[in-house]
Amino acid sequence: MNIFVYPGSFDPVTNGHLDIIDRAAKLCDKLIVAVLINRTKTPAFTIEERASFIEEVLVGRDNIEVIPFSGLLVDFMKKHNATTVVKGLRAVSDFEYEFQMALLNKKLYPSIETLFMMTNVEYSYLSSSAVRELASYGGNIKDLVPDIIIDRVYGKYKNK
Ligand code: PNS
Repeated sequence: MNIFVYPGSFDPVTNGHLDIIDRAAKLCDKLIVAVLINRTKTPAFTIEERASFIEEVLVGRDNIEVIPFSGLLVDFMKKHNATTVVKGLRAVSDFEYEFQMALLNKKLYPSIETLFMMTNVEYSYLSSSAVRELASYGGNIKDLVPDIIIDRVYGKYKNK
């Protein structure tokens, strides 16, 4: 069984993430979406919110599982017998950081593979931080995040 892991903060999940999830799930037997719990910077959405947004969108997709994680990604990979880390690349600007993480993970766990998938051009400009900024100023986030989470993303910034 070939298990892939797509790790991230998903703060919140965007349609760009979902595009990678859809495409990656076709390449493996099981895809685990690993949602990072601890960050030096506090996320805007709680771990429960970030995980449940993804779960709600993916309901009924039986080869995809959403699991919160903390600590090192390689330890999570070992625990779940996963072979491959999936990462989305948007622009050259993503490359340096991703390259460093892929090499560090490989050093820590030599049998690991990192698979980079080019984002769909339609989402190449999209990021969770841009969604948060837009939502905080009441900008339009339709088509950037799944419809069923839109109200909750705006809700986070109401009365602030
Ligand atoms: O969505 P993000 O914030 O770009 O995701 C970053 C993530 C979760 C993939 C990365 O921070 C991560 O793997 N964190 C776990 C700690 C770890 O294993 N770091 C890599 C070795 S330096």
